[in-house]
Amino acid sequence: MSTGMRKGLTAYGDPEFSLFLRKAFIRAMGYSDEALERPIVGIADTGSDYNPCHGTAPQLVEAIKRGVLGAGGLPMVFPTVSLHESFAHPTSMYLRNLMAMDTEEMLRAQPMDAVVAIGGCDKTIPAQLMAIASVDLPAIVVPVGPMLTTTHDGERLGACTDCRRLWAQYRAGTIDAAAIGAVTGRLAPTAGTCMVMGTASTMAAVTETLGLTLPGGAAIPAVHGERYRHAELSGMRAVALAREGTKASRFLTRASFRNAFRVLHCLGGSTNAVIHLTAVARRCGIEVDLDEFDALGELTPVLVNLKPAGEHYMEHLHEAGGIPVLLREIADLLDTSTPNVSGQTLAEIVAGAVEAKGQTAIRRRANPVYAKGGLRVLRGNLAPGGALIKESAATPSLLRHEGRAVVFESVEDVVNRIDDPALDIRADDVIVMRNAGPKGHPGMPEAGYVPIPRKLAREGVKDMVRVSDARMSGTAFGTIVLHVTPEAMVGGPLALVETGDRIVLDVPARRIDLLVDEATLAARRARLAPYAVPEEARGYERLLLETIEQADRGCDFGFMAPRKVTRGF
Ligand code: FES
Repeated sequence: MSTGMRKGLTAYGDPEFSLFLRKAFIRAMGYSDEALERPIVGIADTGSDYNPCHGTAPQLVEAIKRGVLGAGGLPMVFPTVSLHESFAHPTSMYLRNLMAMDTEEMLRAQPMDAVVAIGGCDKTIPAQLMAIASVDLPAIVVPVGPMLTTTHDGERLGACTDCRRLWAQYRAGTIDAAAIGAVTGRLAPTAGTCMVMGTASTMAAVTETLGLTLPGGAAIPAVHGERYRHAELSGMRAVALAREGTKASRFLTRASFRNAFRVLHCLGGSTNAVIHLTAVARRCGIEVDLDEFDALGELTPVLVNLKPAGEHYMEHLHEAGGIPVLLREIADLLDTSTPNVSGQTLAEIVAGAVEAKGQTAIRRRANPVYAKGGLRVLRGNLAPGGALIKESAATPSLLRHEGRAVVFESVEDVVNRIDDPALDIRADDVIVMRNAGPKGHPGMPEAGYVPIPRKLAREGVKDMVRVSDARMSGTAFGTIVLHVTPEAMVGGPLALVETGDRIVLDVPARRIDLLVDEATLAARRARLAPYAVPEEARGYERLLLETIEQADRGCDFGFMAPRKVTRGF
């Protein structure tokens, strides 16, 4: 098989001419013949002025290049789509599959023997993993790393759990505009990803567990010198993988996905990670069984004591010893024969884990944050394809709850009516928001954290049961049922709920049910219009609306899965 500059030649009908032309052009960049004979390591650069989380990407690129050159390779930096949570309209999830396609096709189109992907902000690592899984070349993921924390008025702040908490206080009138303005300057004090156990931290941790990030790489703060040494070492290892021809599929196995899903429970990680890991696994021909994922949680405690479920931040997880120490604590629950891009097995990584004395960010099995996994899969007549709840972020007294449904037709309907003083709503009602799923509100926005109606918030109500086909930020908290599948827009049962119906949430029984008789539901179903892609939808939006899968299949485009997909990990 061709390697280096001879790989993936441009089709001119004469391969020798194609190589001649390629070399002629690349010489314009000043490369010598010696350099052009080296293994090529592509560096997927996601630095962008629109992505503050990736603010250190230029330094990471330089560090990776140093590592590649030092190991005798040729680094070639190339740009891809870059997504930041607050700078992507309508939502970064809308563009995750575009970034995955962009990255995949650039990995295929350009000559490279290995790739080092710089990712971090929520959807970037998932998109890169999806691409790497499909192209299956030697690959290492370098997370940009988490932000450091700082304090405001004596209180330590974390993006974005405290963004939401403090905004809720502002809505409730307990802090004023001056205070919320001051907080704006403190929530994200450095470059890097959100430093709580949100989607970015979760995806970095599960990528390290999958073996595609060097040990310890998930938690090193973005602005520490150690982060750049980690990047340099990643560049060196990428050259070794290129020389060996060790492809990503050596790491992305059923055993490593099983480990990753178990670690997801252990982290009390983001609900979004379930969708992302499902999509990556599907690219590898593995259909995730959500009930199997739930069953893993029964035997897996939440041990990572980070916000929003716990007390600490990513810098403390790093100081504690990082993911290797966590993996050591649950080693008997893992398949430790799985390999890592470092060249070690998980067993060897665990054996070398160094735990900081007296650390409290990673709990012992005998003293967990929660005795069982943080994420629960619900079924029932309201979610026959499944729904998720983050039990570790929910109010215990609401985990078994029956209430009257108060229905909102869309995200916009919530915006328009939730604070209406005339809204008929009580603290024990169940807020239902629909048409916010993969097709209903393209991108499946992180709108599942429906705010508590202002009049109830002012009475001191802090949590209510909320149900939707939307997603929720991994940094949010509350008794919130998400990813209801099938979504309302394609005729899922959520579309049949009417205000005043009774809904029962029973997390211990893993059920969410609508207490309406089947004949009434059938009559309501008959009145639903079938889903049709809007005529005006064009381009990427049309592609998405026509082909996006439901949450239980990772919201990938249906045509991106390999021909053979088998169930279970
Ligand atoms: Fe980028 Fe939170 S906004 S990780």
